[in-house]
Amino acid sequence: MSDLLETIEETRQKALKAIEQASTPSELEQIRIEFLGTKGRMLELTRSLGTLPKELRPKAGQAANKAQNEITKAHREALVAVKKSEAIANRLDVTLPGRRPAVGHTHLLNQTLTEICQIFEHLGFSIVEGPEVETDYYNFEALNFPADHPSRDMQETLFVGDKLLLRTHTSPVQIRTMEKSPPPVWVVAPGKTYRRDDDVTHSPMFHQVEGLVVDKGITMSDLKGVLSAFAAHFFSPNTKIRLRPSFFPFTEPSAEVDIACVLCGGKGCRLCKSSGWLELLGSGMVDPALYDFVGYDPEKISGFAFGMGVDRAAMLKYGLSNIRHLYEGDLRFLRQF
Ligand code: PHE
Repeated sequence: MSDLLETIEETRQKALKAIEQASTPSELEQIRIEFLGTKGRMLELTRSLGTLPKELRPKAGQAANKAQNEITKAHREALVAVKKSEAIANRLDVTLPGRRPAVGHTHLLNQTLTEICQIFEHLGFSIVEGPEVETDYYNFEALNFPADHPSRDMQETLFVGDKLLLRTHTSPVQIRTMEKSPPPVWVVAPGKTYRRDDDVTHSPMFHQVEGLVVDKGITMSDLKGVLSAFAAHFFSPNTKIRLRPSFFPFTEPSAEVDIACVLCGGKGCRLCKSSGWLELLGSGMVDPALYDFVGYDPEKISGFAFGMGVDRAAMLKYGLSNIRHLYEGDLRFLRQF
């Protein structure tokens, strides 16, 4: 008899100690199986009560019951406590190193746009802006486009209504600026522009920076001086530019401005198609016909204007072969800048 009572007491102590030391639900489950399970030690002990003489059974039975209840209770409480502390640990592990928040940066195009504008601001220009949805009047008519000019063709222009369109260039801001303020005018107008065009060097939405200077005694050499200074700051100090005769309805004379190839420096390579030059922008002296539209007196002032492709400038500066890199939002590309 005393043997069995002793075994019950030993088992009770063992179980309680094991429960106390357990720190995970799976450890506690092992303990439950060992002591309280259907093949567990407590059940084994209860069974062996049957081997005792009848008069000794109640005392031993009571002891076994008491031990079983005690172990069950301790086990239940331990399980609750362990689960609770595990949940807390999962929520916050103060020993883990902190996570760095992902910090983005300005997109390459906006960097380029900002840089271009800053260079002109240092040269004394101010920044102005105009709407992206334009009227035929500002985008074409007041810029001296004849009614049947090819640029008005549906192939090039995205119309949003009758005589309402997505501006095909930033030049309408020239008219809006001159309408608003008398000369002298020294402005650049950055912004989005739209054309029906889509290949490796053209995107249907692209960016331009328009420049307009109207002042006393402005000549073509001022145009060349300003753009040389720009090229030196934007590309590299000794970047050469050249003016090539061209045509725009709103400038006379007009010139395409090229920069010496950024890759070969003018010797001729694949990028510049062996010419040594890369086309950067369109420009010219403001056609006096525009002054009639805005009420300026062409006898007193003269001016020049230019329109630069920002996407193109970024591609030239950073040697990009595909304009789509600028619009796909691929972080592996963007993080390099
Ligand atoms: N607006 C012209 C274009 O988009 C560029 C330009 C601007 C040309 C100003 C001359 C003067 O092609």
